[in-house]
Amino acid sequence: MSEKNLEVSEAQIAVHWQEEEYFPPSTEFIAQANMADAGVFDRFSLDNFPNCFKEYADLLDWDEYWHTTLDTSDAPCWKWFVGGKLNVSYNCIDRHLEKNQNKAAFIYVPEPVEEPPVAITYRDLYNRVNEFAALLRDFCGVKQGDRVTIHMPMVPELPITMLACARLGAIHSVVFGGFSGKASGERVSDSGSNVLVVMDAYYRGGKLLEHKDKADQAVKVATDDGQEVDKVLVWQRYPGKYSAETPMVEGRDYFVNDLLKDYTGKRVDPVPVPAEDPLFLMYTSGTTGRPKGCQHSTGGYLAYAAGTSKYVQDIHPEDVYWCMADIGWITGHSYIVYGPLALGASSVLFEGVPTFPDAGRAWQIAEQLNVNIFHTAPTTIRMLRKAGPDEPAKYNYKFKHMTTVGEPIEPAVWRWYYDVVGRGEAAIVDTWWQTETGGFLCSTLPALSPMKPGSAGPAVPGIHPIIYDEDGNEVTPGSNIAGNICIQNPWPGAFQTIWGDRDRYVKQYYERYCANPESKDWRDWPYLTGDAAMQAPDGYFRILGRIDDVINVSGHRLGTKEIESACLIVNEVAEASVVPVNDELKGKVPDVYVSLKPGFDSGKEIQTKVIAAIDDSIGKIARPKNVYIVPDMPKTRSGKIMRRVLAAISNNQDVGDVTTLANPEIVDEVRKLVQGE
Ligand code: WT7
Repeated sequence: MSEKNLEVSEAQIAVHWQEEEYFPPSTEFIAQANMADAGVFDRFSLDNFPNCFKEYADLLDWDEYWHTTLDTSDAPCWKWFVGGKLNVSYNCIDRHLEKNQNKAAFIYVPEPVEEPPVAITYRDLYNRVNEFAALLRDFCGVKQGDRVTIHMPMVPELPITMLACARLGAIHSVVFGGFSGKASGERVSDSGSNVLVVMDAYYRGGKLLEHKDKADQAVKVATDDGQEVDKVLVWQRYPGKYSAETPMVEGRDYFVNDLLKDYTGKRVDPVPVPAEDPLFLMYTSGTTGRPKGCQHSTGGYLAYAAGTSKYVQDIHPEDVYWCMADIGWITGHSYIVYGPLALGASSVLFEGVPTFPDAGRAWQIAEQLNVNIFHTAPTTIRMLRKAGPDEPAKYNYKFKHMTTVGEPIEPAVWRWYYDVVGRGEAAIVDTWWQTETGGFLCSTLPALSPMKPGSAGPAVPGIHPIIYDEDGNEVTPGSNIAGNICIQNPWPGAFQTIWGDRDRYVKQYYERYCANPESKDWRDWPYLTGDAAMQAPDGYFRILGRIDDVINVSGHRLGTKEIESACLIVNEVAEASVVPVNDELKGKVPDVYVSLKPGFDSGKEIQTKVIAAIDDSIGKIARPKNVYIVPDMPKTRSGKIMRRVLAAISNNQDVGDVTTLANPEIVDEVRKLVQGE
């Protein structure tokens, strides 16, 4: 990529990306699609809201059928399918046993090539989930409504743990395996978990990495915060063998594989829970420092994950479906575990990185397992395109359907995905959504609308977006004018609240364009996504990026404030400012600016300390591209750090008019430091 391309800001991308041509899905794809009836959009129109979502709820088995589709009495905390009771583990496992017990629920691919793929049948899954649920209940005392934090890599024991919680009606909170022990501990504490489930070690990039050490740190952080952790359950990467160095703590740490011996063959009746009981928490970054626990429901969430998996992912029972995301993110929850399993599909679970041992690994797995639905993110597509543009052609696989998710995809990258990975045959969906939304918001329905590179597409059935300007006026639909994209109506997959912080939930997502805070009518409560977007005359939405202090790194959100607070842990640092800088592979990465307390000299060791503090507080995913030590920050007269100016410097853009700053002379000094003379 040339220097010039790297200069482009998100808002400019929209301007620079021209209108793209359409790519129609193949007749072969249309002929087999789950949804090829354009009437679906009428069925899911606002006139038929909210009853249209019965169609999704009816994909599930209910222990008690619901009486009220949508209860808005506690607006904007929406309740879906009220009166209904169901169990997620039953819906994802038990109900498939009669016809499909021998079918693979998961096909687990370990990273080392010498360890062959393992098929976990629905029967295996049933046995293992029951035994682990019995252990959680009888050994740990976990019961309905309790929170269990799970900090694990991509191994079958992760969904087994999640489904065991769901079987008991307990609320799981999965922390991305790559996050630090401290990040895990903060989530343990915020969620009030007294059980933490981890694994001793896992493979990544050819190395067996210690993971248990993070549990010790997590417990320490949680305990310091006043949250006791009674039990740490440690799965072993190789059952019966401990692959970590960290000692086990007597009376606190237990090897799951030892305990399970007492639970062989045990069965736990799935606990039917009210539809609006929480199924899980998923923490995500926001505008303030502290990550927030997005609380997802049981009935609404599962119905929405199942419905969108069926119609947008086009999953059929006979497909081999591979979503290369991590289960530690919402994508993995909805589209590796819950959606596919609710439909009785076979979902591939890959432990490692798709470039190990070489850039052909993803396509080798696709060939070996005969994968026909493939799901990944632009950052991975860019990486695979760079590392091995000709690799896909060497393998014999055939995708009917491919997904891109997490950030805008550049049309050139889209074309490589389409032409080279999909061989011009696979239908692509560019799915726009968020941790909060539980499932897709915008995407083409793959058999119904043509693809358009760089655009997420129209809204999916039952989602009705609206774009507002800063003053709350609706931007003319289809005008290609950018604004703040909101969703007019609630939908079953939407999160219910921020765990323990309803005020923050209302403030951050609903206050901005709310007509009347007393209103119980959903029409008064548009959901603020926090993204800027524009709609083309054909109704397709192009997502332009975040409007808040959030950096989308490789398709995952990191709060600038979170990273800044990590920098401030370093004793020498007086002030820190974090801005997004364009990156060829990851989309955006943080650039860090720090100024030092008086009496300290800048030097390499400070940069090292800052990086270590970020690794330690958040994880390597937040690693900055650069750490600049500056004499001072550009500030307004009221003392606010002008991040915009720093971002412009990082991205080689025009800093604009800085004459009104308190210290305009610093801008050029910082610029020289970053860009050279
Ligand atoms: C943010 C949500 C959705 C699961 C993965 C990320 C950006 C997401 C797209 C897309 C353009 C996208 C948005 C959104 N985003 N998908 N297809 N095109 N931008 O979940 O970490 O909650 O991040 O990712 O900015 O708000 P997340």
